[in-house]
Amino acid sequence: MSHATSDKARVAEIISPFARLAQLLEGLQPSRPVIDLAVGGPRHPLPDFLMEKIAEAQSGFGQYPAITGSDEYRAAIAGWLERRYPPVQGRIDANAHILALCGTREGLFSAVFPAVERRGDIARPAALIPNPFYQTYAAGAMTAGAEPVFLPADASTGFLPELEAIDEGLLARTAVLFLCSPSNPQGAVADRAMLKRAVELARKHDFMLFADECYSEIYTAEPPPGVLEAACEADGGLTNIVAFHSLSKRSNLPGLRAGFCAGDADFLAALAKFRNVIGPQLPLPIQHGAAAVWRDEAHVVANRALYSEKFDIADEIFGAKFGYSRPAGGFFLWLDMGSHGGGERVVKTLWKDCGVKLLPGSYLARTNADGSNPGADYVRVAMVAPLDETKAALTRIVERLG
Ligand SMILES: Cc1ncc(COP(=O)(O)O)c(C=O)c1O
Repeated sequence: MSHATSDKARVAEIISPFARLAQLLEGLQPSRPVIDLAVGGPRHPLPDFLMEKIAEAQSGFGQYPAITGSDEYRAAIAGWLERRYPPVQGRIDANAHILALCGTREGLFSAVFPAVERRGDIARPAALIPNPFYQTYAAGAMTAGAEPVFLPADASTGFLPELEAIDEGLLARTAVLFLCSPSNPQGAVADRAMLKRAVELARKHDFMLFADECYSEIYTAEPPPGVLEAACEADGGLTNIVAFHSLSKRSNLPGLRAGFCAGDADFLAALAKFRNVIGPQLPLPIQHGAAAVWRDEAHVVANRALYSEKFDIADEIFGAKFGYSRPAGGFFLWLDMGSHGGGERVVKTLWKDCGVKLLPGSYLARTNADGSNPGADYVRVAMVAPLDETKAALTRIVERLG
């Protein structure tokens, strides 16, 4: 496999996909009322008990929170992990294996620094990133002094990176491997065997495996397996792995900024030390509210049912058009517009003629050395709007593109 490396990569090259989208659509007037399915910001109801819980703990706004998170918050997360991933039962010490985060984004970024530092024996270690990918992975890698190395994750690899195709020399100089399952943007889910293989590789080559599992609760049939359970099934330990989760997608709370990471105790201690000087603590009343949200599953079941109804509609409207198939997880559609002129062109057309705002797939991917971009043919559709709006948008897409 040829890896796209980017020695000249600079942080300034990482531009938000949404800033690029604004540039692409500048000056173009939509001819119909706008339906925005570009940003992956959930728009389903918030858990109705949240505000009461936050208010209960409001005096906590008068205190600095500990960087690690409160005992209550970490205990609620340990409980959720044990219910969601039974093989981890009895293996999670809430004090050692869990760290509160202000959403997964800052955690994914911050965690690259200690991951690079622990491989101080390598001059410029590699950060392995599936391509397409969530942009924060590359921003973290570049800022922390790692070389981002992009692993193909396109139709030919089942939209997940092929672990067996990574050469040994590269693995030997790797500080971190990012895996996203269910993946953004394609909704592909890594099975247990793949997760176990990733754990094995991380241990063999002593790099950190960062599993971004923030879409884990949005799925169609089977709950996606998690890396913590894969690790516990493999040999019981959590060394070399960290899973990242948040309430943003599970509970429609992207504005609460409540997340966590869980895994390797020594690594989390180093990450806590690093985050303690950069300071992103989660306010105590927010932790109290978020703990209640982690403890509740009823709203998550209802939330998943809302997505399922919308995917039923997509099944009906798209059939096999645009290479559509219902994703195993997450809330995005990844539609192949290669025969309609590619992602950017289709996004402009649908905006002008239909008022439907989507994201060109290339904005979520890195261009390879040969000039190809694995997202170029694609558009990403975030199924986050209410059902009627979503149905109207999908209908407009088919009517316009046929
Ligand atoms: C793949 C992926 N990881 C992480 C995040 C960050 O989510 P949050 O910081 O809200 O937990 C997002 C947000 O869209 C995402 O798509």
